[in-house]
Amino acid sequence: MCPPTHFKVTYSINPWMDPAKPVDLPLALTQWETLRDRYRALGHTVEELEPRPELPDMVYAANGATVVDGRVLGARFAHPQRAAEAAVHVEWFRSHGYPVVREPEHINEGEGDFAVTDSWLLAGRGFRSSPLSHPEAQEFFGRPVIGLDLIDPRYYHLDTALCVLDAATDEIMYYPGAFSPGSRAVLERLFPDALVADAEDAAALGLNAVSDGRHVLLPQAAVGLFGPLRERGFEPIGMDLGELLKGGGSVKCCTQELR
Ligand code: ARG
Repeated sequence: MCPPTHFKVTYSINPWMDPAKPVDLPLALTQWETLRDRYRALGHTVEELEPRPELPDMVYAANGATVVDGRVLGARFAHPQRAAEAAVHVEWFRSHGYPVVREPEHINEGEGDFAVTDSWLLAGRGFRSSPLSHPEAQEFFGRPVIGLDLIDPRYYHLDTALCVLDAATDEIMYYPGAFSPGSRAVLERLFPDALVADAEDAAALGLNAVSDGRHVLLPQAAVGLFGPLRERGFEPIGMDLGELLKGGGSVKCCTQELR
């Protein structure tokens, strides 16, 4: 995770970002710290990346890399405003003893567009990550990639519309409206028992959640997801990341998982 010390919305690269809307920076920091402390209270280790003043979107650490089986696939950002973040992540992994770190050839925005289950690497495309990043990731991780076409600009990253609830059992939740008809059919075929979110919970960025297989940390405004998650045996934990929503991200965007 990377603290939002220098967070601000001065440019707009997704429909959520409006530079005219003020950000309450102290509140953003408090909300972020609450999330970090919640992970720690649940027994998870949280590593912190040093924020850079010239990179206000660094708080969305999920985009910086994808780590599976300890192998690190770095990011390559679609927009110049975020391009320099990639090297910061790569440098962190190299200095923390990760032996296999690849700087990618094709554009991919890390876990923004890659979601990992034990069986598959689900990979979004359409707004940010290049379709060419999919075979690159498949070759690197040796896991079959399922390419998914995103069609709604509000759901510009896969992790705004789909969340892995339990990697071991391939259990996911997603919002069908974010995907092309063909990709919807693929999701129905692979995940017939998925938790399907409605438009309202998706618009609260409720799918931008992190699950450890038992606890699901998600935006608290996505009220419709809490009951269905409980019925499936998960413990939903509502978080308020309202200030970070102004940059187009929530719980998952702020969290990169070190698998
Ligand atoms: N402002 C950032 C961008 O548009 C938000 C990134 C959100 N991260 C995510 N994993 N969806 O790039």
